[in-house]
Amino acid sequence: MALGGIVRGKRTTLRTPTEDDLPAYSRWMADMRVRRVAPVWHQPAMPATWKERLKEQAKEQRAVLWSIEADGRLVGLARARVGGVESPPSAHLQHFIIDPDEWRKGYGWDAALALHRYFFDYLDLKRSGAELRTDNAAALRIAEKLGYVEFGRGHQVHYRDGGYVDESWVLMERTAWDERFGKTEREYVPFGTAR
Ligand SMILES: CC(C)(COP(=O)(O)OP(=O)(O)OC[C@H]1O[C@@H](n2cnc3c(N)ncnc32)[C@H](O)[C@@H]1OP(=O)(O)O)[C@@H](O)C(=O)NCCC(=O)NCCS
Repeated sequence: MALGGIVRGKRTTLRTPTEDDLPAYSRWMADMRVRRVAPVWHQPAMPATWKERLKEQAKEQRAVLWSIEADGRLVGLARARVGGVESPPSAHLQHFIIDPDEWRKGYGWDAALALHRYFFDYLDLKRSGAELRTDNAAALRIAEKLGYVEFGRGHQVHYRDGGYVDESWVLMERTAWDERFGKTEREYVPFGTAR
């Protein structure tokens, strides 16, 4: 099952992607505002190619894709590797994109918080990882608020505007989730205590 199900935030909902979402996906991947700060999930392409990609994603063993909605409108996507094969069981965020026309309205934070609640409370994962470009102020801010910590850094990985930019490798531990959000955000009863 590699198309994600419903994960509810306060203002956003992560839900199963559909073919109707694909034109917007293609538009975001072509948008230079997205491309300059983060890796894209596939290059822009014709509708038939996107349909194939969605079919492939549905068969994917380890990476899960969600569409993000706000007020019933599609506003983004998230894709993460999630699993217990690695030790400890972890998530790895690969793509987390809000429609550039909807930036700075709080959707990114709300959806990220909901997704991490799903990782830590529902899936009971121990850590989550991501790679962020160091000029990506919005992503760095969200990561910092969640409780991610840098554990490694790639120097001068990306080139733009006549200069190089580093890449920050970040990890968030389950303990950070529990400390910061365990009391306020918990939706599911912790494993081991449910009857
Ligand atoms: C990262 C991203 C998802 C954030 O989405 P968003 O909906 O604009 O985020 P929010 O409105 O919830 O803002 C989150 C925080 O970042 C801050 N922020 C947002 N854009 C910012 C910017 N350009 N400069 C500085 N801070 C910024 C906000 O002020 C907010 O901080 P606060 O809680 O202290 O007020 C969005 O910018 C995006 O899609 N970027 C391209 C893909 C990407 O970079 N993904 C992350 C790597 S996987």
